[in-house]
Amino acid sequence: MIITVTLNAAIDKTLAVPNFTLGRRHRAVEQTSMPGGKGVNVARALKALGQPVIATGVAGGPTGTRIIEQLTDEAILNDFVRIREESRTSTAVVDPTSGEQTEINERGPLVAEAELELFVDKLLYLAKGAGVCVFAGSLPRGVDPEIYAELIGEMHKLGVTTVVDSEGDALRLAARAEPTVVSPNELEAEELVGHEFADDLDRLRAVAEVAELGPREVLMTRPDGCVALLPSDGAEGAATSETYRVTLPPLEPVSSVGSGDAFLAGYVAARYVGSPPEDCLRFAVACGAESTQHFGAGVLDPREVERLLPEVRVEQVELPAVEARR
Ligand SMILES: Nc1ncnc2c1ncn2[C@@H]1O[C@H](COP(=O)(O)OP(=O)(O)OP(=O)(O)O)[C@@H](O)[C@H]1O
Ligand SMILES: [Mg+2]
Repeated sequence: MIITVTLNAAIDKTLAVPNFTLGRRHRAVEQTSMPGGKGVNVARALKALGQPVIATGVAGGPTGTRIIEQLTDEAILNDFVRIREESRTSTAVVDPTSGEQTEINERGPLVAEAELELFVDKLLYLAKGAGVCVFAGSLPRGVDPEIYAELIGEMHKLGVTTVVDSEGDALRLAARAEPTVVSPNELEAEELVGHEFADDLDRLRAVAEVAELGPREVLMTRPDGCVALLPSDGAEGAATSETYRVTLPPLEPVSSVGSGDAFLAGYVAARYVGSPPEDCLRFAVACGAESTQHFGAGVLDPREVERLLPEVRVEQVELPAVEARR
């Protein structure tokens, strides 16, 4: 079983608004509303890919009730802790004429200490039957930024593989707890290592820099694929790693909201069934790309993912050890 944790679950509303302009009144030509928050999106994609997944986290108020009911309607197993304050609604406006998208995320509920304790108890209970736990998204107010780091430690004690997709302090502190996998996008990775990446070489070095902070496997997504550093079996069991560059010609997106979540679900799904590293990366990039062809985060069509697989190029890149450490 794969667990996804969403502490900032939301109802994600996506509106298609042609010629979206600030300060004007608009009419949406298309709209969807579905449970979201990064962990929920990952769970939706994992379910579409046929992997066993349960979504947990906290949800509150009438919006929280909707999140849970709609997840159940989608037949996504879920077990959330109910909290007193109201869960968020996040709105994305996609302009089909320009392809631009604008996101507005509400501030989200304040989570009380006792509510968070209930969640931790629930997670530790669920983890007894799990192989992987994905911590995804930002943290709501009232939650200690160390939470992911602490829970990663608990998961590792139980022999559960940990995956983190977050940003800012939550990601920085989580990385130090040596999670199995992190998957920042390029911007989040720049913030994590504290400098910008000017070129391809910088990006290749960046995944090694992130790995030095603690994570074992580093996936840095970009709109054209990803750069990754994955451990490999060196001679006489020495710890070595391989750097990969994975690319796919861009598709015309319907909506790229949540493509990073679909990417991560793809990686986790392939890894869960024991696929070799290159296949995991290829599958992840195909899932991220395919999800851009649908409205709604984490929505993807597994048959179309299969069709895209041969178009994904995976290269192993040689980086001198000295280079990797700079
Ligand atoms: N237009 C596109 N065509 C093909 N693939 C795309 C496109 N946009 C994104 N992707 C794929 O989706 C994956 C994730 O992309 P990106 O780095 O934009 O994620 P992200 O910023 O984390 O997104 P989010 O957090 O909104 O889910 C990448 O592997 C990329 O290849
Ligand atoms: Mg992302």
